[in-house]
Amino acid sequence: MTLPGQVKLFEVGPRDGLQNESTPVDTATKVALVEKLADAGLKAIETGSFVSPRWVPQMAGSEAVFGQIQRRPGVRYSALTPNLRGLERAIAAGASEVAVFIAASESFSRKNTNCSIAEGVDRSAKLAQAALAQGLPVRGYISVAAGCPYEGEVPVTNLAPLAQALVDMGCYEVSLGDSIGVATPGKTKSIVETITTVVPLEKIALHLHDTYGQALANIYAALEMGVATYDSSIAGLGGCPYAPGATGNVATENIVYMLNGLGVAHGIDLEALVAAGDFITRKLNRRNESGVARAMIAAVSRQEHNQID
Ligand code: HMG
Ligand code: MG
Repeated sequence: MTLPGQVKLFEVGPRDGLQNESTPVDTATKVALVEKLADAGLKAIETGSFVSPRWVPQMAGSEAVFGQIQRRPGVRYSALTPNLRGLERAIAAGASEVAVFIAASESFSRKNTNCSIAEGVDRSAKLAQAALAQGLPVRGYISVAAGCPYEGEVPVTNLAPLAQALVDMGCYEVSLGDSIGVATPGKTKSIVETITTVVPLEKIALHLHDTYGQALANIYAALEMGVATYDSSIAGLGGCPYAPGATGNVATENIVYMLNGLGVAHGIDLEALVAAGDFITRKLNRRNESGVARAMIAAVSRQEHNQID
């Protein structure tokens, strides 16, 4: 099977990554991170969310982040929005597009958004209608697509009607979230197969948390099926505060390194990306979760050491 010649990466670190950090992150750091990611060549950056600050205090400063970033031409600065209030805030902040999110299990829907799946779909449809009327593109996530932290197995048959609903409300892309990183390549293939019955391949994205270390294998399986859009998080930061135990998305550095090896185009400068990840992990005083980044940083410091000797 031929792999796609070109892959689009949708960077979620500033949102999915930083929403889960216990260390408070100041606005200047968030702004610098977004700008470094754009400098590295990322063209779609989820810059923040306009959710209830009581639910996710880490994202309370998203207005300031959107307000202070120097915007690069051709880069989309996206915002995650749960309801019309969130959409109003996103529009006022100048988001280039918004993302709605629904869940494939009732328990996760309730825990994450305090509503049933059907209510979440309805809320998202109203939001999408209002956003599209203002000319804002809308992306749609389906969380816990491969398994739920509260209910366990999620039948793949749950997914197609939800994906259909997102497309019907006008989402330009459906991002399938393995929120707790449990999928293996076989499961990923069956999810993609199910979704392609209702959504064309070019509108499918995968959003794979790497909790069980399966994300790259899953991405390779999906590449073989022709999926060409992947969400990823700088330095592997992230998780969802309502998905206990879940770690970050696949590290952007890891997927870029793999795509380089496969000869698949992506438009990103790996060294600049590693520098962005190094910047944020130092600020957070935490380990860089990207093995690629750790190896490249270690190689540079060995080289510097040898030069001094
Ligand atoms: P609720 O408590 O049912 O909402 O929460 P409410 O309408 O009753 O409002 C409660 C309070 O929140 C009120 O304030 C509202 O004004 C305020 P009060 O009057 O009590 O002071 N409020 C807001 N404030 C600012 N902006 C808003 C907003 N909405 C309400 N937009 C709600 C319902 C959906 C708001 C809440 O559950 C929520 O914000 N949930 C979001 C949780 C979240 O952000 N989770 C992480 C992101 S999703 C994710 O990570 C998964 C993903 O990465 C994919 C994957 O990995 O699967 C996307
Ligand atoms: Mg996520």
